[in-house]
Amino acid sequence: MSSGPAASGGIRAEPAAEPRPGSSATQDEINSRIYHARGVAAAYRSKLLDRPETLALLRYQHGFFGRNVLDIGIGTGRTAGFLQPLARRYVCIDYSQEMVDHVREALPGIEVHLADMRDLSPWGAAEFDFVFAPNNVFDAVSHADRLRILGEARRVLSADGLLAFSSHNRRCRTAGKGPRLTYSRNPVTQARHVIEYLRRRLNHLRVGRLHRDEDEYALLSDTGHDYALLHYYIDRDRQQRQLDAAGFRLLEVIDSDGRSLREADGDASSPSLLYVAARK
Ligand SMILES: C[S@@+](CC[C@H](N)C(=O)[O-])C[C@H]1O[C@@H](n2cnc3c(N)ncnc32)[C@H](O)[C@@H]1O
Repeated sequence: MSSGPAASGGIRAEPAAEPRPGSSATQDEINSRIYHARGVAAAYRSKLLDRPETLALLRYQHGFFGRNVLDIGIGTGRTAGFLQPLARRYVCIDYSQEMVDHVREALPGIEVHLADMRDLSPWGAAEFDFVFAPNNVFDAVSHADRLRILGEARRVLSADGLLAFSSHNRRCRTAGKGPRLTYSRNPVTQARHVIEYLRRRLNHLRVGRLHRDEDEYALLSDTGHDYALLHYYIDRDRQQRQLDAAGFRLLEVIDSDGRSLREADGDASSPSLLYVAARK
């Protein structure tokens, strides 16, 4: 790192003066409110990798084994336990103070910083060999901010560096769809399901007003945080072009079942896709 830890105050997100339906400021406000809410860490209990992550980390371990790793949007530290012991240097960031505090307490010794991924200026050019951003972290910000992040990721990567990140799949048949009521024979469980459904339905209606369809991407809500987030969705052709324009060469796309997708393969059943790209 070229200077001290960054604080999220240094971000250059688009102005958030007046929330306008569909504006990036609105998307940032919505998501930021959730990730900065008290108790947010409790929603992230898993300590395990999912199948696409496991396959990507096994296949591309040369990219991080004994090398310098930046893990973006660390949450409660799910991926730190796998990458930190294998990396030469492991750095993780999150813009949520609660997440950073949680990592400091749960994983003492991990280098974690309160920082916004839109501003990686505390870190120097080519400081890392592997940038990891799983669990659709890039999707929390606007289109303009996403392009800035790809540029920043490229800048901090070494010449043979790798970027591995996941993103919501716009071609998934459930993309943007609302919640469904789950049924149970047990009346207590059923009452819980109904309450949960109503909460999700309300969030979906509220955030649904801000859904947006652009040529390159869509802004849609999803199951995360009971449909209260507004996420960026993109199909893999558009993502490939975006990566190309940002100075990356796409190496592989892995679907939610862990399949490495070839060009002709369908991806309508995959809610998100994991991309691995090399710095050009
Ligand atoms: C879906 S959670 C994923 C957490 C973790 N990577 C995991 O897979 O368990 C997204 C995380 O990204 C963080 N995040 C969202 N926007 C961010 C931003 N602009 N800069 C840094 N962190 C961000 C959130 O605070 C949250 O911890």
